[in-house]
Amino acid sequence: MSEKRWIVGVTGASGAPYAVRLLGALVELNVPADVIVSAHGWRLFAHETGIGGEQELLQAIGGSGSLEFYDNGDRGARPASGSAPYKGLVICPCSMGSLSGIANGNSRSLIERASDVTLKERRRLVAVVRETPLSAIHLENMLKLARLGAVIMPASPGFYHGPRDVGDLVDFVVARVLDHMDVEHAIGYRWTGEEEARDG
Ligand SMILES: Cc1cc2nc3c(=O)[nH]c(=O)nc-3n(C[C@H](O)[C@H](O)[C@H](O)COP(=O)(O)O)c2cc1C
Repeated sequence: MSEKRWIVGVTGASGAPYAVRLLGALVELNVPADVIVSAHGWRLFAHETGIGGEQELLQAIGGSGSLEFYDNGDRGARPASGSAPYKGLVICPCSMGSLSGIANGNSRSLIERASDVTLKERRRLVAVVRETPLSAIHLENMLKLARLGAVIMPASPGFYHGPRDVGDLVDFVVARVLDHMDVEHAIGYRWTGEEEARDG
């Protein structure tokens, strides 16, 4: 691998539009990434976006660009090894099930294994978690991962940028994810001061 890649996991939490927007941005910005979608991640793509599989996802995000897709059952694939020099891993959206598997080091899927590797290699792990309300189990799992250095990024868009549609809310979350991937982008809105927000 010449340029270090990101790993992007998509799991079965509500929020498939975030994943579509994130993957589309990575294609557009030519950011290399290995993508792993769980079985319920595919289910949520179908349920929330009408995307019925990899080909339809590629159509929705403008082609494969520098993305490569891996089977979530294949714990022998490239993202499973610490010797593959990734920048880090983003799970968007991240279900409570996957959160638990990662917090407990289960490695029962490629997403869980790649997360385990990301933690042991001290690389960046970003989990765009989504559930409400949160149980003590969810909170403990998040705290455990945060203490290990993971970025816990709830899929909870702000409203201070005056969103006009759902796309603006999706962009709010995806922009923050890209920030934490150190990807330069022009998505969403950046707060520059209260006056401007009130007047603009
Ligand atoms: C329509 C639908 C919405 C769901 N929303 C959530 C959610 O927001 N958060 C969550 O943790 N699980 C949610 N789930 C449940 C997960 O998909 C389920 O626990 C699954 O086993 C997670 O597996 P995965 O992490 O391997 O994708 C949802 C399931 C369905 C079918």
